[in-house]
Amino acid sequence: MPNLKQFSLEGKVTMVTGASRGIGRATALAFARAGSDLILTSRKAEDLEKVAADIRNEGRRALVISAHLGRTEDTKNVAATARAAFGRIDILVNNAGTSPIFASFLESDERLWDAIMNLNLKGLFFLSQAVAKIMKEQGGGCIINVASIDGYLPETDNGVYAVSKAGVIMATKVMARELAAFNIRVNTLAPGFVHTKLLDASFQARPGREEECKGFVPQGRIGEPEDMVGTMIYLASDASKFVTGHVVIADGGMLYI
Ligand SMILES: NC(=O)c1ccc[n+]([C@@H]2O[C@H](COP(=O)([O-])OP(=O)(O)OC[C@H]3O[C@@H](n4cnc5c(N)ncnc54)[C@H](OP(=O)(O)O)[C@@H]3O)[C@@H](O)[C@H]2O)c1
Repeated sequence: MPNLKQFSLEGKVTMVTGASRGIGRATALAFARAGSDLILTSRKAEDLEKVAADIRNEGRRALVISAHLGRTEDTKNVAATARAAFGRIDILVNNAGTSPIFASFLESDERLWDAIMNLNLKGLFFLSQAVAKIMKEQGGGCIINVASIDGYLPETDNGVYAVSKAGVIMATKVMARELAAFNIRVNTLAPGFVHTKLLDASFQARPGREEECKGFVPQGRIGEPEDMVGTMIYLASDASKFVTGHVVIADGGMLYI
């Protein structure tokens, strides 16, 4: 009989960015059910408070910190506030991400570049840095970055996003290499198509796109946020204690079969 306790997050403190909806919300709720207390962050405190209420109903502690994670100052404040409240951060899930509009390479401007890169890559990098300093002091931790299959295979008219997600995959390796010495593991989850506000807005902007996307997926469906949580728990828990610097792709088979 395998030891399923190695998947437990009992007694852990997890910070999830972009926790107000979509993949971040599903992850935060699943982690609470697996035993973790939660620090929830995104821009809108009101939305986060609803998730916090659900987590408290599971008997776990939940702290809401409102922040714009594309701003480095905010990332430092989030780490400091979390530490002041909980004294430690065992797991960081860098999930917040954006792709506000579709634009071709030739039409992508600096404003779009900054909006995407500041959150998806710069924010992830500097929040990880601030949290990793805390993890180093406490003797270890675990970071999960959320990339995308777009980091391998660019989608038409979503090039800046693809560049940011390829950067997330490399940032994972950079962090994993340096932080292994401090008992900190760093891995990436790369989702395929998942029904969330982010993807559904892109389906609405492009009629027929949802059916087209389903056709790319061997499993024949768009994923749900709950399809991501098993991989998240695996990467956050002792079940993956010898795994670092890797990407787990959860895409219904789209990329490689
Ligand atoms: N859905 C997919 O098909 C798919 C596929 C591959 C990868 N992903 C990745 O999965 C992650 C989660 O995406 P999702 O699909 O769940 O998207 P979503 O439903 O749009 O959720 C995005 C989350 O990020 C937060 N956020 C947005 N801008 C922020 C900012 N400047 N500062 C702080 N928080 C911010 C949002 O909350 P606020 O509005 O309150 O700030 C929200 O909680 C992203 O990294 C995305 O790139 C998604």
